[in-house]
Amino acid sequence: MSEPAIMEIDNVNFENHQPVYNDKKEILEGFLRPQKMLNPKFFYDHHGSVLFEKITQLPEYYPTRIERKILKDNAQSIADHCGTETIIMEPGSGSSEKVRILLDSLRPRAYVPMDIAGDFLLESAIKLGGQFPWLDIHAVCADFSQPGWIPEKIPEGKRLVFYPGSTFGNMQPEDALDFLEKLKIFLNGSGGVLIGIDLHKPEALLNAAYNDREGITAQFNLNALNNINQLAEADFDLANFEHHAFYNSNEQRIEMHLVSQRDHSVSIDGETITFGKNESIHTESSYKYTVDSFSTLVASAGFRVVNSWVDEEVLFSVHYLELD
Ligand SMILES: C[S@@+](CC[C@H](N)C(=O)[O-])C[C@H]1O[C@@H](n2cnc3c(N)ncnc32)[C@H](O)[C@@H]1O
Repeated sequence: MSEPAIMEIDNVNFENHQPVYNDKKEILEGFLRPQKMLNPKFFYDHHGSVLFEKITQLPEYYPTRIERKILKDNAQSIADHCGTETIIMEPGSGSSEKVRILLDSLRPRAYVPMDIAGDFLLESAIKLGGQFPWLDIHAVCADFSQPGWIPEKIPEGKRLVFYPGSTFGNMQPEDALDFLEKLKIFLNGSGGVLIGIDLHKPEALLNAAYNDREGITAQFNLNALNNINQLAEADFDLANFEHHAFYNSNEQRIEMHLVSQRDHSVSIDGETITFGKNESIHTESSYKYTVDSFSTLVASAGFRVVNSWVDEEVLFSVHYLELD
């Protein structure tokens, strides 16, 4: 990583590894594929992060509500497995809301939230630091889809990766395995991973969660184009696209797309990209697992599931993994 800009505010240290995601080439490559696609990280400018927080409060969006309940109901059991006095790193920490549930039982030596959305990360870290003045916070703005993202300048001690929100499910299984390999660098031979994983369930529940009645998920999906307009000097007109989300049972994943409503073309970083009517941009996948299929996947990256916590309706799961 390049030398970061560093800022200190009370108990919060903020490292900004700019440039974070100004990779116009990466954006353009996605639009040159037969199935146009965007990495879901492009949802998350500041506005996208605010919209995601709104999604987490929607009645249809069960993952946040159920995961929070699992963490609350099992906070002591989780601490018994993960141990106290650890250095907790949370990749894709967003608002850092969920870690609050565990802070009293885990009593970490330090918390390292890391996220691509730098302004939102800084705001969230300062808010958390004010509410937990005893907590040593080392916030890191970086892109975990790029090499070398594991922060280096963090306190010594036993390490715990906290990876809630089923963000793991947004990765293709092969990328998820690669991500677990990277976590081993941070774990440095010991410690573990506390991870939230969304489970298979009736399609109607899944489809409702990604097609909320208020249309917030649609706004969130479309906002990726606003972000691309800024990052890659593009001229997307959002009115030319519609949100489309559905469960793909063959791939066992929710897919989010933006569907072009007419034939038109867009300029991206000086290149002209054409869209046919009904042609889509695949903006996100959200893979669903069973406890067994997840255990099998992580085993191939050298991790063992030590314990799993699941809600009564078996909608969502939280797992504690250790290196095998
Ligand atoms: C689904 S949200 C989860 C937020 C929070 N952890 C939770 O459980 O509610 C995904 C988070 O990961 C961040 N993110 C997505 N892709 C990223 C990347 N490539 N590098 C760093 N952060 C990323 C987003 O900014 C967002 O805050």
